[in-house]
Amino acid sequence: MQIIRELSELRTIVRKWHSNNRRTALVPTMGALHAGHIALVAAAKGQADRVVASIFVNPTQFAANEDLGSYPRKEAEDAAILEAAGCDVLWAPSVETMYPAGFATSISVGGVSETLEGAARPGHFDGVATVVAKLFGQTQPDLAFFGEKDFQQLAVIRKMVADLNMRIGIVGVPTVRDSDGLALSSRNAYLSAEERSVAHVLPDALRDAAAGIAKGRDIAEALAEIRGRLAGAGFDPIDYVALCDAETLAPAHQASGKLRLLAAARLGRARLIDNLEVMPPA
Ligand code: PAJ
Repeated sequence: MQIIRELSELRTIVRKWHSNNRRTALVPTMGALHAGHIALVAAAKGQADRVVASIFVNPTQFAANEDLGSYPRKEAEDAAILEAAGCDVLWAPSVETMYPAGFATSISVGGVSETLEGAARPGHFDGVATVVAKLFGQTQPDLAFFGEKDFQQLAVIRKMVADLNMRIGIVGVPTVRDSDGLALSSRNAYLSAEERSVAHVLPDALRDAAAGIAKGRDIAEALAEIRGRLAGAGFDPIDYVALCDAETLAPAHQASGKLRLLAAARLGRARLIDNLEVMPPA
């Protein structure tokens, strides 16, 4: 696996792949890699001839009060993990390469980016959309892989690609979970042992509510129960608990169509997010 930090070098390799008719894939990450990220690389390897993973802790998607400074950085370990996973190139640009002096463009995806995470983290999705558009421009992939773990991010990227006519296939990959159901996340490292032992209440409460709604349970009641269980386990604040249309992420007032149950809440120093598909009652 080649580790590349200069755009000119990346461009040379990508041009060669394309002239040899290689199907290429991008897996964008912020590093501190875990099995969730590796599932994306494995899916990419299954569908493409060449895989680029990027590691870039993108400052523009963190608000001033967020964890940019403490976000885990372990590039050497990450490179070994990516190499073992069969990744061809690690694209690891510097902040100066991504945002040289005078950088002035921002991509803002309306609608789908405005609720949930977008409401809790103003500006976050502008940072994500802009850096992902840049990564697309730099790596020119045929396919790009994103986790359902960040379900709204996946929806925002799909919308950007459709609206801007980007010729890139966006592939969503199911969430990889720990044995107790907690979704793997680089931010789980912020949990104390005690917090980690109750963190499973988030996926448990979502799973039970999804099962209840699928059996016809009242939506408002099911959402209130999730909130109650999260508060009881020490999650504070609870940013949102919502049942949404799976495409637009508009609130779903009826249990019909494609539905997604999403929640975000803080446990100690970690802000945890999770989501599940909900089947409407038969
Ligand atoms: P990061 O949090 O590092 O996640 C990189 C990719 O891994 C995202 O597509 C995310 O959804 C996926 N992922 C994370 N945890 C996962 C899990 N448990 N199961 C499956 N997939 C999982 O998301 C970002 O970085 C950034 O916003 C980025 C897209 C790189 C732009 O900066």
